[in-house]
Amino acid sequence: MAELQKDPMTRGDFLGFGAIGTIVGAILTIPPIGYLLQPVIQNDVKKETNVPQKWYKLGPIKDIPENEPQHFEVDFQINQAYGSEKIAKKSGVGKSSRFDVRSAIYASWAAPVIKDVPTGVGPDKIGKSQMPEFVKKGFKTPLTKEQIKEAESKLNVMSNSCAHLGCPVRWRTNQNLFLCPCHGGLYDINGNWVGGPPPRGLYKFEFQVREDGNIYVKHHFTNVGPKNGFQRPFVV
Ligand code: FES
Repeated sequence: MAELQKDPMTRGDFLGFGAIGTIVGAILTIPPIGYLLQPVIQNDVKKETNVPQKWYKLGPIKDIPENEPQHFEVDFQINQAYGSEKIAKKSGVGKSSRFDVRSAIYASWAAPVIKDVPTGVGPDKIGKSQMPEFVKKGFKTPLTKEQIKEAESKLNVMSNSCAHLGCPVRWRTNQNLFLCPCHGGLYDINGNWVGGPPPRGLYKFEFQVREDGNIYVKHHFTNVGPKNGFQRPFVV
């Protein structure tokens, strides 16, 4: 009677090959996954950001007129999450994974809100904007702590991007409003929603006024979230 042929692979061999396969698979898979998750790890785990949180000089407060916003521009630095010096050079995009994005920013003296309509029924009426007396009279630098405090409490520093789909808004002196040319969004001098499709007011930047009489901004909005900036009243 013929002898039964022995299985060339033992149970131990099989498990050994399985373990080696798992290790090789992990070696090949983990680096690409790590690379893809790099931005998530940076932002959500390490709490880092590709938007450097430094202060940028915007412009002098003396340039802001009494009842109109003043247009400024600033170059915000961005560090690409997936970028590297090598890739940037190879792709011909530039010499670095860092680049600047020019952003337009409006600064205005805040106007008091006159609530002569019941809250939630229509857009608020607003008064004249409140330029501080020391700015009206002309001032010398360095500014005092009190002057800085007053200027900061009366300033709006806003993005010019419409809160609907991001078109650049423009100030219409005749109407005393910001108008968005894309779909007709309207905002008052404080950046609050007045009409049209935007679901909220304009985004506002974190800023400070310094002794040299200039405004400095961070690439960071202060009025984000459901309680901040959702200023669209219900219209009947
Ligand atoms: Fe401004 Fe649509 S983008 S109203």
